[in-house]
Amino acid sequence: MEIRTRTGAYEVRIADFSQAMEALPPGSHLVTDENVAALYGHRFPKGRPVVAVPAGEASKTLERYQRVVERLLELGADRGSVIAAVGGGVVGDLAGFVAATFMRGVRLVQVPTSLVAMVDSSVGGKVGVDLPSGKNLVGAFHPPELVVVPIDALETLPRRHLANGMAEVWKYAYILDRELGERLESFDTVPSGEQMAEVVARCICLKAEVVEEDEHDRSGRRAILNFGHTVGHALELLTGYGPLLHGEAVAIGMGAEAKLGERLGLTPRGLSERIRADLERVGLPTSHELLRRPAALVAAMRRDKKAEAGVLAFSLLTDFGACRLVAGVSEADVECALMEACGA
Ligand SMILES: NC(=O)c1ccc[n+]([C@@H]2O[C@H](COP(=O)([O-])OP(=O)(O)OC[C@H]3O[C@@H](n4cnc5c(N)ncnc54)[C@H](O)[C@@H]3O)[C@@H](O)[C@H]2O)c1
Ligand SMILES: [Zn+2]
Repeated sequence: MEIRTRTGAYEVRIADFSQAMEALPPGSHLVTDENVAALYGHRFPKGRPVVAVPAGEASKTLERYQRVVERLLELGADRGSVIAAVGGGVVGDLAGFVAATFMRGVRLVQVPTSLVAMVDSSVGGKVGVDLPSGKNLVGAFHPPELVVVPIDALETLPRRHLANGMAEVWKYAYILDRELGERLESFDTVPSGEQMAEVVARCICLKAEVVEEDEHDRSGRRAILNFGHTVGHALELLTGYGPLLHGEAVAIGMGAEAKLGERLGLTPRGLSERIRADLERVGLPTSHELLRRPAALVAAMRRDKKAEAGVLAFSLLTDFGACRLVAGVSEADVECALMEACGA
């Protein structure tokens, strides 16, 4: 697969872990996390420098960024080096931001090992770190020169993180691809093996199509990817980014936003129930006690950086596999939909 950007194009290849390691160009410095290093470190190419950061979102900070850069310097990295991000979305975003800025920018290869990283963060060129005042507040657009997806790495991904990534997979189906959705519904649970390779490839194509139309997130096209995210981000904010994984919050959000679409007469009746059944089958949550506090959630949505001047905008389904951006939804409608989504 090839993804076009303003400055050129890059290739996305579905492979296995060994092939991904063989594909790393000369001069690669691997950046990974400690979990991935423990599982796969013995398969990293011999003699290549490796920087391993602690696993988890807590590594996406400016402090950690600085330590990685300093470590790369100690290891002899220079302007001709290539940063190879081998890990989940945290490693991809952090190492990608290092690549965007180290010596004013060096080449980047993404080797995404979590499902989230495969279908979402490794494609699209967004890289960055968090600040104490919010997630992803510092960053850059720095497309990789190559993405190699080691699909067999999913075999070691913990079940909860697999389900977490499935939330984004379902999202692509709901907003853009009915055929993918029906295929996913034909599996009992999370697809595996060949099926998963096909599903991941399809999601990457869908994301690439949207991103190519709106690389720098300006035209609004990219905003359709936010289905489930307006409510999801508010849930993450109010729960303090701990108990709910992003995909779990988005799963609850997709159910609630489908209800909102139904309420506004945009989404076919009954689709929200179908979505909840789909998501529950792969082990994702679809309800949360905070849905009973709709006013607090709406207040959090208004504070979201994506809500321009406090106007609530949603990517809402117009069918199974189609969506449209809707701005200026009334807070009363949102609150009613949230209450309906928790079954009240
Ligand atoms: N840049 C973007 O466009 C974009 C898009 C979506 C998400 N993100 C970012 O991605 C991050 C979330 O990514 P994530 O969910 O991959 O989190 P993560 O990187 O923390 O990975 C989740 C967990 O799985 C472990 N892991 C990864 N691969 C594994 C494997 N093959 N086997 C066993 N364990 C493995 C990790 O060590 C970690 O504990 C967030 O910071 C989010 O902001 C960025
Ligand atoms: Zn998301």
